[in-house]
Amino acid sequence: MIDLRSDTLTQPTTAMREAIANARVGDDQKREDPTVNELERRGADFLGQEEAVFLPTATMANQIALQILGRPGDALVVERQAHIMLSELGGPAAHSGLLTIGLHGTKGRFSPDQVVAEIRDRTSVHVAPTRLVALENTHNSAGGRVWPLDEIDAMVATCREHDLAVHLDGARLVNAAIASGTEPARIGRGFDTVTLCFSKGLGCPLGALIAGSVELMARARRGKHFFGGAMRQAGIVAAACLYALDHHVERIADDHARARRLAEGLAGAGVDVDLEQVETNFVQIDVGPDRAGAIERMKEHGVLVSTTVHPTIVRAVTHLDITEEDVGRAIDAIGAALGVKRTAGV
Ligand SMILES: Cc1ncc(COP(=O)(O)O)c(C=O)c1O
Repeated sequence: MIDLRSDTLTQPTTAMREAIANARVGDDQKREDPTVNELERRGADFLGQEEAVFLPTATMANQIALQILGRPGDALVVERQAHIMLSELGGPAAHSGLLTIGLHGTKGRFSPDQVVAEIRDRTSVHVAPTRLVALENTHNSAGGRVWPLDEIDAMVATCREHDLAVHLDGARLVNAAIASGTEPARIGRGFDTVTLCFSKGLGCPLGALIAGSVELMARARRGKHFFGGAMRQAGIVAAACLYALDHHVERIADDHARARRLAEGLAGAGVDVDLEQVETNFVQIDVGPDRAGAIERMKEHGVLVSTTVHPTIVRAVTHLDITEEDVGRAIDAIGAALGVKRTAGV
């Protein structure tokens, strides 16, 4: 089976497992885990921030960010198909009492003007004041799309001008950085808080970071306990994350090249793929109204893909465990499953 459902499916490599086995560990709640401490130091630099806090998941990292940036009754502005909006169970309302305003995005992005249009009268006793904005880069449901750096800078400048806090959901920030040829620290440095997930393209079994100023990270550490994410000998996991920072960052370019080859191969075979959408490691395939049937037929041909928020579109994601040969085989298998003209994918 060629599993293209998500980049979250990777297995730790043998070398990563060795790093895990050899990790020096301590009680992370007491900040005595040397491996976690090292990851937090390096992670802060990597994300262009003063300090970072190690967490189990990127969802928790987002939720802590929103909790420390907002107060109950504040309004949060986010793209309406962002992970925070669609896939975190209403967390901003449940955990932090935030009213979430979903903006219509283009390629997962929205403009400073759209944000400014949502700023409400903060002196009014009736309306929820707009206090924070969250961006997602790469944007998952838009198909792994990348925010151009000039648009990020313009958004951050607008937020500063209007006294809005600004968060970056950078679960796949490394993909965005590699695709745009920009250091993650350059992308992350202007935000109040930035999150990064290690269990996606970076290939770790779990782990995430939140980064920000020393003051905000002191509050994030409290949030880590509050959300039940304060761990003990977490260096076992942090060792994998450090390994990934050393060995799995540059190679993400291979995932992007494979996604491009997959997309071009499929398009050449007559499959409905919008090549313009393929900026990182996601390929969006329009399979028409019988999506469930198409997924089943692809499975019968040995390829797993996943659904997206768009009713006729499935997603194929390249990652650490997908080889060049897999791409060739997947092109043939998907083409055959969808009954289009056959092509030699390999
Ligand atoms: C953009 C984005 N943010 C956050 C998350 C949450 O990650 P986790 O599963 O580690 O909670 C995901 C997971 O797919 C994601 O795509």
